[in-house]
Amino acid sequence: MKVLVINGSPKGSRSNTYQLAKAFLEGMEEGAGAAKEVFEAEEIQVYRLNIRSCLGCFSCWDKTPGNCCIRDDMQEVIRKLLWADITIWSFPLYYYTVPGGLKNLIDRQLPMVLPFMAENETGTGNGSHPSRYDMGGKKTVVISTCGFYTAEGNYDGVCSLFDHCYGKGNYTTVFCGQGELFRVPDVARRTNEYLGYVRDAGREYAAGGIRPETERKLEQLLYPKETFETWADLSWGIDKEDGKRESDALIFTRQMAALYRKESYQGREQVLEMYYTDIEECYQIVLGKDGSRVLTEELMAADTRIETPLPVWRSIAAGEIRGDEALMKQLYRVKGDFNLMLRWDDYFGGTGHRGEEARQGAGAGKGHGLDGKSGAGINMPDKETNMSIMLIPWMVFWIAAGVDGYIGSFASIGVCVLVPLLFHRNKKTWFDSLSGALAGGFSVAVLAGAPVRLILPLSYLAFGIMWTATCFREIPITAYYSMNQYNGEDALRNPLFMKTNRILTLMWGILYLMTPIWTYFLLGTPMASYTGAVNSVFPVVMGIFTVWFQKWYPAKIARGE
Ligand SMILES: Cc1cc2nc3c(=O)[nH]c(=O)nc-3n(C[C@H](O)[C@H](O)[C@H](O)COP(=O)(O)O)c2cc1C
Repeated sequence: MKVLVINGSPKGSRSNTYQLAKAFLEGMEEGAGAAKEVFEAEEIQVYRLNIRSCLGCFSCWDKTPGNCCIRDDMQEVIRKLLWADITIWSFPLYYYTVPGGLKNLIDRQLPMVLPFMAENETGTGNGSHPSRYDMGGKKTVVISTCGFYTAEGNYDGVCSLFDHCYGKGNYTTVFCGQGELFRVPDVARRTNEYLGYVRDAGREYAAGGIRPETERKLEQLLYPKETFETWADLSWGIDKEDGKRESDALIFTRQMAALYRKESYQGREQVLEMYYTDIEECYQIVLGKDGSRVLTEELMAADTRIETPLPVWRSIAAGEIRGDEALMKQLYRVKGDFNLMLRWDDYFGGTGHRGEEARQGAGAGKGHGLDGKSGAGINMPDKETNMSIMLIPWMVFWIAAGVDGYIGSFASIGVCVLVPLLFHRNKKTWFDSLSGALAGGFSVAVLAGAPVRLILPLSYLAFGIMWTATCFREIPITAYYSMNQYNGEDALRNPLFMKTNRILTLMWGILYLMTPIWTYFLLGTPMASYTGAVNSVFPVVMGIFTVWFQKWYPAKIARGE
C-alpha cells in the first residue's frame, strides 16, 4: 500500500488539518500492518515547494507531450502522484474551496491528461480529457478542516471540484468544522478524542472501508455551536461591543466559562471564583441551569475559590502539568466546596467518553480535573475491578463458619467455586484469586477438623496481612478497586488519590490485624455464633469513615493545610 499525503495548508506541519491527515495515515498503517500488507508513505508539503501557476500555453500537450515547460517542483509531484496507490489531499477550507497554492498544484496536473476530448465518465459535468497514464485502481481521500462551527453546507465548492476530478462517490472525505480547536491545548481532551476517531477511520479504510458508526462520530460537532462560537469570539481577546482588549486573565476565565457544560448542573447555581494571585485579579463564573456567566464586579458569595497564579492554571489547562499533581505540590489552593473540583471534567471537560477517549494516542489531553478523568493516553480496561468479589468468600466464611463451622465451611467452599464465574463481567485482581484460595483453604482446614476458634482468627489475620502489605507496595489495595469511580487506571497516576488510598488501606489493614484478638476471645464465650455479626459492626463504621475521608482529605490538601 503506497500512500501519498499532500498537505496544502500554508501552515505546513503546524496545520490543524494535517493533524487529522496524520491520524488517518497512522490508522492506515495499523490497518495495513494488521493485514500484513507492506505500507509505504510519502508526503508533500505544498507550500515548501516551488510550484508556479500554470501558464495556459498547452505546451505539455503539443510541444513536449506530458512535460510542462515550467521546470520547478511539479515534476516531482507528478512522479509521486503516479507512484501512489492512495492519495490523501489535506487542506484547510479557504473561501469555500482549496487554498491557492494547492489550486496551482491541481492546475499543474494538466500534463497528466491527453489533449483529446472524451466522454465524461465521472457523472459530473460534460466533457473530459482521457488520462495519459493508467490511473485505474488508484484511490483518493480528502481531509479538510474549516473555521466555522460545522463542515455541513460549506464544502459544496470542494466537493464539486473533486466530483469533477474523480467522480461523485469515488473518493472518501473527512471534513471537520471548528478546525482551529486542534491547536488549542485547553480542549485537547475533545480534539484528541476526535483524532482517535480519525485514526479508527484510517484503520478501517485500509481494511476496506470506514464503518458507518465511525462516520457518524466524525460528523459530530467538536462542541455545540453556541459553546464554540462564544469560545471562538473570545479567543481574539477583543470586546465585541467596544473593540477594547480585555486582560489575559479575564479572557482566559471567559474561555473557561464558555466550556461549561450545562448538563452537569446540580440543581442550584454554583459560583466558582478564580483569584489569580500573581496579578491579583478576581473573577467569578456562575454555573447555572442555562449556561455560565462571568462576573467581573459585584461579586457573589463563592462556593469554590481557586487561588492560583495565572501561568499555573494556564499550564494545567494546556495539559503541561496535571491538576492533581499541581495541587499536591501546592502550586494552587482551593477553598470552599471541593466537590466542584472532584467533578471538574463533568463541568468543563469536553465530551470524552470513557474508553473511547483513552484509545491509543487519543487520550493525551489533560484537564484540570481532580476526578482522574484527565486523559493520559492509556488503554482503559473494558472490565472493572469489583471489591465485592474479593470480599464475598471471606464474608461467607466469617459469618457462616462463625455460626456453624461444618456447614459454614461447606457454604464457603461452594462460594469460592462459584465466584470465578463473576469474572466474565469483572476484571480480576490477584487479591481476588488469593482471597478465594485463602478462604477456601481455611474452610477445608475446618472441615478437616481444625478448631474454628483458631482458624477464624487466623483467617482475619491472613486478610489483615494481605491488606496491610499492599501499603508498602506501589498500589495500595483500595486503589485497585476505588479507581473505577475515578476513571480507571489514570487515577493510579493521581498522587492525591494514591495518598488518600494508602492512608485508608493502612487504617483498614490495622483493623483486620486487630480483629483476630477479640475474635479469639469472643469465640470462647456463648456469643460465639454472633462473631460474624459483631465483626461486621467495625467495618460498617470504617465504611462510613472512608466515604467521609475520601472527600475530606483531598479538600484539606487543597486548602493548603
Ligand atoms: C484565507 C482564509 C480563508 C478561510 N476561509 C474559510 C471559509 O471559507 N470557511 C471556513 O469555515 N473557514 C475558513 N477559513 C478558516 C480555516 O479553514 C480554518 O482555520 C482551518 O482550520 C485552518 O486549517 P489549517 O491549520 O490546516 O491551515 C479560512 C481561513 C483563511 C486564512
